[in-house]
Amino acid sequence: MKKIILLIAIFFIGLNSYTQNNDRFYATMALQDAHELQNDQPGEIQILAERGNEAAVYMSETAAEALHGRILVHGPGYIFKPSADAAIESLERIVNRDNSRIAFTITEDVAVLQAINLVNVQNIEDHIIELENYGSRYHTFGSATQAAMDLKTKWEDMAALHGRTDVSVRLYNHSNTQMPSVIMTIEGSEFPDEFVIVGGHLDSTSFQGNNDAPGADDDASGIATITEAARVLFESGFVPKRTIEIMAYSAEEIGLVGSQEIAQEYGSNNVDVTAYVNFDMTNYNGSGNDVYFITDFTDGSLNTFLMELMNHYNSSGSHMFTYGTSVCNYGCSDHASWNNEGYMAAFPFESSFGQHNPNIHTANDTFSFIGTAEHAAKFSKLCAEFLIETAKSDGQLAVLEVDSNVYEIYVSNNTLYYEFNDYEADISSVVIYDLVGNTIMTLQDPDNQGAINMNHLASGMYIANFTTDYSEVVNKKVMVR
Ligand code: BES
Ligand code: ZN
Repeated sequence: MKKIILLIAIFFIGLNSYTQNNDRFYATMALQDAHELQNDQPGEIQILAERGNEAAVYMSETAAEALHGRILVHGPGYIFKPSADAAIESLERIVNRDNSRIAFTITEDVAVLQAINLVNVQNIEDHIIELENYGSRYHTFGSATQAAMDLKTKWEDMAALHGRTDVSVRLYNHSNTQMPSVIMTIEGSEFPDEFVIVGGHLDSTSFQGNNDAPGADDDASGIATITEAARVLFESGFVPKRTIEIMAYSAEEIGLVGSQEIAQEYGSNNVDVTAYVNFDMTNYNGSGNDVYFITDFTDGSLNTFLMELMNHYNSSGSHMFTYGTSVCNYGCSDHASWNNEGYMAAFPFESSFGQHNPNIHTANDTFSFIGTAEHAAKFSKLCAEFLIETAKSDGQLAVLEVDSNVYEIYVSNNTLYYEFNDYEADISSVVIYDLVGNTIMTLQDPDNQGAINMNHLASGMYIANFTTDYSEVVNKKVMVR
């Protein structure tokens, strides 16, 4: 019994070491910001080392909150480091990675158009509200860990609905926060060791008190954006040649903790990451253009490629939206973690910096402040365009068989009866072929239940082909007498 109590005590002490309130921690930040903060809040921050325009610091939670508060005007960010050594060493560290092998091309019009036609604004809205309803996703809270576990289930269900055996979802446990990140992997059919990655942070914060931190725009919007992009890839039957990963990070708000641990692991294992695109705040339409590419801590040629994608797919018609550029002036989100590891990173943002959602990091960062997910839907399209054109289509749609429990197909008196019961997908077409493959009859978008008169056909064998809007098929031999 004593042992159990001791274990429980150790467990709680362990948990406590994660909570940073009133604790001090190590970080790196822009040197100028460190100096300004030292002037404002002497005693809250200590500068350990300087190099170029960067400083390694030891700072308090109060100092961190002051930084978060100032972001609403124009604030500096900081990157958490687990120790003084790690902070000082990272000032010295410059990763030079050779990215010259990467050639970006636009070749996948069919797959891209199929996918972006399926982007659904309502799904994004529902998901943002679902995430906001956790009340808080502050990284030390049980509700944040719960949100990560539920997101894993949601992603698994999404893949399973489309019969994807090439998809797996894992929780990534961290050293410097108790909240796990979530990673979905769609294994590449031809180049499984080459990774195309998108991500955003799942955690939230509020400097008014972390009990009420809905984080709808920052960054439920980004998580809902990349989830919808993944969903349309599945619904359109897209199979990638390169491996795709979709990441939802923990503990971004306390200094990029989640993404930093993941990017550092990938970096030190020399994982071949083709490119990374970050989605953090996608739903507030605050400026004249729709998408703003953040040009600092990102890669110029990747930014150019994303602009070319938009010139190609989004310059007219129903998928039209516009872009501009902006800067954060500091490593303001998780793209900086990948950029610091020498990988090509980009950060398409909801507005120009400074015209972004004014309610972030407050209890008022709710969906109802915006009221529609139309802005975020543009980013889902951009995300799908990036994933498809960078990972490249296998050329083969994932063709799935419908589970035989959910349909009934039979012929009686030369009439073909069919019924798909309790079935989530809709039948998108019924085609009757003869045995040499001639198309005899086509029905587009029929009801999920119906009867087709085949009396006028010559007697003999035919094939009835049912396709659903999840790219599934059922073929049934039918006899006309
Ligand atoms: N979503 C913000 C980043 C952001 C805010 C970008 C406004 C552009 C405009 C992110 O969640 C955040 O709050 N970042 C921190 C810095 C981070 C390194 C702790 C910030 O900006 O204070
Ligand atoms: Zn934030």
